[in-house]
Amino acid sequence: MKAFIFDLDGVLVFTDQFHYQAWKQIADRLGIAFDEQINNRLRGVSRADSLEIILEGYHGAPLSEAEKQALMEEKNEIYRGYLAEMTPDSVDASVRETLQELRRQGHKLAVGSSSRNTKYILKQTDLTQQFDAISDGTNITHSKPHPEVFLKAAQYLGEQPANCIVVEDAEAGIDAAKAAGMTAVGIGDAARYERTDIRITTLRALLNVQNTL
Ligand code: BG6
Ligand code: MG
Repeated sequence: MKAFIFDLDGVLVFTDQFHYQAWKQIADRLGIAFDEQINNRLRGVSRADSLEIILEGYHGAPLSEAEKQALMEEKNEIYRGYLAEMTPDSVDASVRETLQELRRQGHKLAVGSSSRNTKYILKQTDLTQQFDAISDGTNITHSKPHPEVFLKAAQYLGEQPANCIVVEDAEAGIDAAKAAGMTAVGIGDAARYERTDIRITTLRALLNVQNTL
């Protein structure tokens, strides 16, 4: 029996576009150039760190902490408006089946995500009951590539880090998994990253490689 820790955005659900649309509205108003390439850099990164990356393109008067806080709150309001539209159909059937099959085989499953909206997304998509533990942006002080989110997930599962397999789409997430002493499975962008231990192209492929882990 093993423990699998899944990143959320980019692995189980695809909310990249929602993040993009929400930050884009703010960037446009501040006259900041913001495109999909910059959006890619926000993957796995906390909300506060995402704002700092976006503000690299800001040339106006310096913003106070209170102004930055207000921008993050505004972004989150817009983002949650998109999340409100999510339903169980927003999750690919093969993703749901893969989680069910791993559970059937007796493995423990957790979510390890930087997002403070994790529990809301899992509720909207009816995925909550698939997991034995949830570690997210609400229980950490350091975001990926720091290992805290995954170490907390292992702790909640009652597992040793060496017995945990992390599934990630972001380089920062692979770095976090390695720093935690876990096996790192990469999908999407992370499948092309040199530090990734095992590369998969679909989540279902996890069922084929997991016997070798
Ligand atoms: C991660 C996303 O899952 O959550 C990042 O990949 C995002 O892009 C981060 O910035 C924080 O999300 P939230 O929901 O707490 O604003
Ligand atoms: Mg991700």
